[in-house]
Amino acid sequence: MWRSHFSDEYPNFAGLKHKIMSVNKEVKRITTHSLQEMKHKGEKITMLTAYDYSMATVLDDAGIDVLLVGDSASNVMAGHETTLPITLDQMIYHTQSVVRAAKRAFIVADLPFGAYQGNSKEALVSAIRMMKESGVHGIKLEGGTEIVDSIDRIITAGIPVMGHLGLTPQSIYKFGTYSVRARSEQEADKLKTDALALQAAGCFALVLEKIPAALAKQVTESLHIPVIGIGAGPHCDGQVLVVNDMIGLTKGFKPRFLRQYINLYDGILGAAQSYIKDVKSNDFPNEKEQY
Ligand code: KIV
Repeated sequence: MWRSHFSDEYPNFAGLKHKIMSVNKEVKRITTHSLQEMKHKGEKITMLTAYDYSMATVLDDAGIDVLLVGDSASNVMAGHETTLPITLDQMIYHTQSVVRAAKRAFIVADLPFGAYQGNSKEALVSAIRMMKESGVHGIKLEGGTEIVDSIDRIITAGIPVMGHLGLTPQSIYKFGTYSVRARSEQEADKLKTDALALQAAGCFALVLEKIPAALAKQVTESLHIPVIGIGAGPHCDGQVLVVNDMIGLTKGFKPRFLRQYINLYDGILGAAQSYIKDVKSNDFPNEKEQY
């Protein structure tokens, strides 16, 4: 039904579909191995968050290397103040949608707060649920040496793990602010120790969030696994942003590290206002927009 309607409206659809399918045949999935190779070749890794099918389709078509189903979904999708409330079930739901969309990107999902901090057995159960129920390719956990046992157990089960150090939003109430982390020598030393411990435990990559660029450079150069930065300067092996921030959907959120590539908030606002005006004034639908 939908297809014949779609073909009526778009007569070149059959040709287009053929073109898309032949392009799709050649699509090679990014793997942990490709990411490792990119680090060795000095090719920067691109990562963005995604939480739903439509956005993941666009980002995958654009050629993004890694899609992160971040627990920032708690903020940007659900409107919570922190990442703490989002549940494992909700993360699995978001991840399933992204997995259905992405043909090329390597997909990583956050294990949410409360799904792995208890003990390593709980962490493994959560990681297995995420892998089995969503079809994701790897998971991300926040923390250093204190969660190495859990990471070890998860990796032993064959699940790729990405680490996350620096600003770790799941611990926001421990720190009290979202300010730059590891400015003091003591904190910087702890971060370097944690980074080495995560690599030794077998993490395939590491996210460094909101730390001084010089420290991120040192860590990136000292590790053989890829380091992806957010607010961590230009020397990391790759960069990640929360997509809603990058496309200007999160109104008023403009930290120094963010580059906003489009202002979708104003774009959508304008479109919605035009639609409201057109419907109210009987301009929409017109003769061509009806059957
Ligand atoms: O949840 C998230 O979006 C993240 C990124 C900021 C790295 O963890």
